[in-house]
Amino acid sequence: MTNRVRKAIFPVAGLGTRLLPATKSIPKEMITVVDRPLIQYAVDEAREAGIEQLIFITGRGKSSLVDYFDSAFELEEKMRGKGKSLEVLDSSRAGYGELISVRQQEPLGLGHAVWCARDIIGDEPFAVILPDDLMVGKPGALKQMVDVWENVGGNLIAGEEVAADMTGSYGIVTPGKQDGAVTEVRGLIEKPAPDVAPSRLAVIGRYILQPEVMAALGTVGRGAGGEIQLTDALAAMIGKQPFNALNVDAQRHDCGDRAGFVIANIVLALDRPDVGGKVRDFIAGLSPRP
Ligand code: UTP
Repeated sequence: MTNRVRKAIFPVAGLGTRLLPATKSIPKEMITVVDRPLIQYAVDEAREAGIEQLIFITGRGKSSLVDYFDSAFELEEKMRGKGKSLEVLDSSRAGYGELISVRQQEPLGLGHAVWCARDIIGDEPFAVILPDDLMVGKPGALKQMVDVWENVGGNLIAGEEVAADMTGSYGIVTPGKQDGAVTEVRGLIEKPAPDVAPSRLAVIGRYILQPEVMAALGTVGRGAGGEIQLTDALAAMIGKQPFNALNVDAQRHDCGDRAGFVIANIVLALDRPDVGGKVRDFIAGLSPRP
């Protein structure tokens, strides 16, 4: 058994109904923020954290996600012929053996999607990255988690304080001891109404998990919304293994949601030397709403 996190699961088989009609034929992870699809940001973050194997859990209509990380022979030949640099394509290519895709045949929930990778994970700790949560931080969110996990071990989830009226959209932590940005997880509940939520500490889309979580996923059955919930399997690990939440030092954009996507585009564009100036000038020229 290794104590390095080498493998990351990217569950990308969801239907993305909040982004219809675009997601009728484009996976939400292929929608662009500035000039790169959402999945590229997640993969870059994983690589920065030392991940060597990217495991995509895909479903119907999601093959463009795997194609995106392939080499594009004709395109590259044509670009070479025209003397154009191929550097722009570098990060969109997976190395040999770096990318594995597994099919989730029915969208039975995030927990089920993760469970689909059980044979590839084997007995190693692993990361889970939800690409919809675009995290902007230096170092990246997963790298921050790996650094902390090397000390605390066990299961480590990324947490964020959310507004009181938002608890119903997240898994919420019952907090224990706190040590700086690390909070012990004493309990976990999926999407509690604000009046019964044990805190405002929400689970966001980054996890480092022990392989035993896979066995728990195999037994939890369907939970909230009739789906197999990752939160339920994680709750079953409490008391058996160290379990903590890390408040990562990064800005999160929820790109599973229309407004989040638009905001991510604006924020990331403003930060880009090639387009930031134009976008800033345009925003500065907008008249205030009457
Ligand atoms: P979401 O809850 O955002 O669901 O899934 P969704 O289907 O993607 O989007 P909406 O709510 O219909 O708009 C959280 C993550 O879990 C993955 C999604 O792809 C996303 O990364 N997921 C969800 C699966 O891979 N399989 C599932 O069965 C459900």
